[in-house]
Amino acid sequence: MTESTAAPASDIAAIQSLAAGDMAAVNALIRARLASDVVLINQISEHIVAAGGKRLRPLLAILSARALGYSGSQQHTLAAIIEFIHTSTLLHDDVVDESDLRRGRRTANSLWGNAPSVLVGDFLYSRSFQLMVELDAMPVMRILADTTNAIAEGEVLQLLHVHNPDTDETAYLRVIERKTAVLFAAATRLGALIAGADLATQQRLHDYGLALGYAFQIADDVLDYVSDAETLGKNLGDDLAEGKATLPVIHALAQSDASGRAHLARIIRDGDVAALPDVLAAIHAHGSLDYSHRMAERYAQSAIASLSGLPDNDWMRALRDLARYAIDRRN
Ligand code: IPE
Ligand code: IPE
Ligand code: MG
Ligand code: MG
Repeated sequence: MTESTAAPASDIAAIQSLAAGDMAAVNALIRARLASDVVLINQISEHIVAAGGKRLRPLLAILSARALGYSGSQQHTLAAIIEFIHTSTLLHDDVVDESDLRRGRRTANSLWGNAPSVLVGDFLYSRSFQLMVELDAMPVMRILADTTNAIAEGEVLQLLHVHNPDTDETAYLRVIERKTAVLFAAATRLGALIAGADLATQQRLHDYGLALGYAFQIADDVLDYVSDAETLGKNLGDDLAEGKATLPVIHALAQSDASGRAHLARIIRDGDVAALPDVLAAIHAHGSLDYSHRMAERYAQSAIASLSGLPDNDWMRALRDLARYAIDRRN
C-alpha cells in the first residue's frame, strides 16, 4: 500500500483524551441503560459492549456538539443512542455474515446462536428508541428514524449483491452509503443540531460525517485483506467468505484479463475463502489496495473540506484529525 504521510493512527489517543470526560459519561450511560431483568439479554449485551469497540460514532457526536459550543448533557444521551444503534446492527450483521470474531471476541451468534443474537439486537435497537423519546425532540427522532431505515435498506441491498461478481463500484458505493455512512452523518449532524447550529452548519456536519463514513468503510474493506485477526479483532477474508465483492476485488476484477476475471468471478460466486491467496495475488498485481486507499483518501479530504470556514477550536481540529485516522487506522 502507499506509504502514508499522515499522522500515525495512534494519534486517536490525543482525540480520545480530549473527549475523555464526555466519553466516560457516555459509557456510564450505556452501561446503566443496558440493564434488563432478562438474564440472557444482560449476558449478550454485556458480552459485546464490554468488548469495547472504538466508540467512534459516539465520539463523533460529542466532538461535533462541542466544536459548535455545546456543553449540556443531551450530547451524552445522543452519543449513547448512536452506539446502541451501531451495536444492534453489529449483532444482526454478524448473523447475516456468519462471522465468528468481533472486537477480539467470539461473536454472540457463534456463542449463543442466531436467534438470541437477532433478538438481543432488537432489544438494543428498541432501547435506543426509548432513549430517543427521552430527548423529546422531533427533529432528532426524524433523522434517526430515517437513518435506521436507510441502514436496514443498505444491509438488504448488500444481500442482493452477495455472490455477484458483476457488482460494480456504483453499486458498492450505494451499499456503503446506507449501511455505514448515514450513521456517521447522523452522529455529526445531530451533534450540530443539539448545539443549536443553523441549518447550513448542520448540513456541513452532515456532509463531513457522510464522507467520513465512506472513507471509514472503504478502509475497513481494505483491512479485511491486509490486516491480521489479532489486530483487527475480526477474521480476515470474511468478506470473501461471504461472497462480498468489496472495492479491492471490484477493482481487481475490472482490471483483469478475461481468464483472470473468470477465475475471480468463480471465487466470488462460491465464496471460496480457500482461494484467498489467488484473490490477494490479483489485488496486488492490479494495485487494487492502492486504488482503494486513494479513494478513501479522497473521501477523507472531502470530509475535511466540509468543515472549512467553521469556527476553529480543539474539537474542530479533532474532527479533522479523525478523518485521517479513519483511513490510516490499523483496526
Ligand atoms: C464496524 O464498525 C462496522 C463497520 C462499519 C465496518 P467499527 O469498526 O466502528 O466497530 P467497533 O465499534 O469499533 O467494534
Ligand atoms: C458494516 O458491515 C455495516 C453494519 C454493520 C451495518 P460489514 O459487514 O462490512 O462490517 P464488518 O466487517 O462485519 O465489521
Ligand atoms: Mg459483517
Ligand atoms: Mg467488513
